[in-house]
Amino acid sequence: MIDDAIDHVSVRFMEEKDIKQILLIEQCSFSAPWTSKAYLSELQNKFARYFVLLDQERVIGYAGMWLFAGESHITTIAVHPDYRSRRYGRLLMVTLIEHSMKHNIGTMVLEVRVSNNAAIRLYHSLGFKKIGMRRNYYKETREDAIVMLRHLKEGNETGGME
Ligand SMILES: CC(C)(COP(=O)(O)OP(=O)(O)OC[C@H]1O[C@@H](n2cnc3c(N)ncnc32)[C@H](O)[C@@H]1OP(=O)(O)O)[C@@H](O)C(=O)NCCC(=O)NCCS
Repeated sequence: MIDDAIDHVSVRFMEEKDIKQILLIEQCSFSAPWTSKAYLSELQNKFARYFVLLDQERVIGYAGMWLFAGESHITTIAVHPDYRSRRYGRLLMVTLIEHSMKHNIGTMVLEVRVSNNAAIRLYHSLGFKKIGMRRNYYKETREDAIVMLRHLKEGNETGGME
């Protein structure tokens, strides 16, 4: 039985020991899942910041971004299918937003598949706006990406959160 209460989970930086559990979520979340090599390389990348969401010891979600030249570029976010629609995706996004603000980042950017309504709604509800399209961005399906951006301002760290 999964507990609905958001305060029963915790967030910390991703570590190498998390990768095995992350790959299981990756496999059921993306049509072109990242490999363990990709995550190992990201954990060595000095511009990258990755977070995991834990239900006790279990990894139930993760998100990451690159911080570079005053901008953060969100690279991934996923929540285990059993834990979706419980506001954990929102919690991970708020973690990225707050971490970016702490590092004086001015804008956050991301790409999302045109068909990914759940993610688009999540980003929109947090103040991200569509600024353009990238045609055939996803190689395996040739699907287009929507590019979304949010400006970060002091005192508005959670955007459209209620
Ligand atoms: C996108 C994803 C991370 C959202 O995580 P989640 O924990 O289910 O989302 P939340 O419960 O925090 O929902 C936050 C908001 O997102 C939107 N949303 C989430 N799931 C949705 C769904 N199935 N349909 C429509 N909107 C949805 C809603 O606006 C929701 O706000 P609300 O609860 O006030 O209605 C999750 O669906 C996922 O892991 N998907 C697979 C990986 C993926 O597509 N990642 C994004 C790549 S760009």
